Amino acid sequence: MKKQIKFLNKIFNKPITCLTAYSASIAKLLDGNIDIILVGDSLGSTLYGMKNTRGVTINMMKLHGKVVTENVKKSIVVIDMPYKSYTNKVMAFKNARKLINFTKANVLKLEIQKKTIPIIKYLSKKKLNVIAHIGVTPQSFIDFKKIKIVGKNDQEKKQLLELAVNAELAGAQAILLECVTEKVSKEITASVSIPTIGIGSSKYCDGQVLVFDDLINIDDQKKLPRFVKTYMNFGKETKKVLKKFSKEVKSKKFPNKKFTYQ
Ligand code: KIV
Repeated sequence: MKKQIKFLNKIFNKPITCLTAYSASIAKLLDGNIDIILVGDSLGSTLYGMKNTRGVTINMMKLHGKVVTENVKKSIVVIDMPYKSYTNKVMAFKNARKLINFTKANVLKLEIQKKTIPIIKYLSKKKLNVIAHIGVTPQSFIDFKKIKIVGKNDQEKKQLLELAVNAELAGAQAILLECVTEKVSKEITASVSIPTIGIGSSKYCDGQVLVFDDLINIDDQKKLPRFVKTYMNFGKETKKVLKKFSKEVKSKKFPNKKFTYQ
């Protein structure tokens, strides 16, 4: 029998699958094929070409979140709270309610540190579903080149374990682990009863998440982080198609009769 896991009262075959989507077309593709669809604030860098995710606003998340939920019927939709939108309880609740009311997403994701635990507790008490994102938290970085994996020493291991356990106690429904060492991910997964979803955090997590644009290598990147497996090279294939289209237009091969109204 397949191992199963409960998340938001839904039973999933384990491991859980999760990918990002920011648009209607990708949401439709993922719906029902992937367990969880994440409207991540990675859209800042991935879609808008920003250097980091700090320029992402509540309004951007609202618009992309709505377009995704409107095109999802089966999967669970998680939406990120952007940088500086949850610096205190009251602000966090106000913005969380804005995001959920407007988009109808099922769950909020917050990048957390020790000081964010009371916010998780507050939002959970107000009946909002929250995922706690720990390990590498991209909103803490202006320069993504400075990102390093975490959990390599005893101090980091202790901090991460405490954070995960306290996030669960505060009411988090799942923990997202980003770039956490295999040993520590395994230990965290064994120490909490809620699902762990990993990105660059080993096979021991209860689920795996990747940025969709990375999964298909949308822009033919030559250098992606070690944890990214590109299942196809969309960018490279598209460049071939662009050449063919240009050649056919320039040589008047396209549009021929088949593509012309008489
Ligand atoms: O914003 C995002 O897409 C994320 C993933 C990297 C997990 O948080």
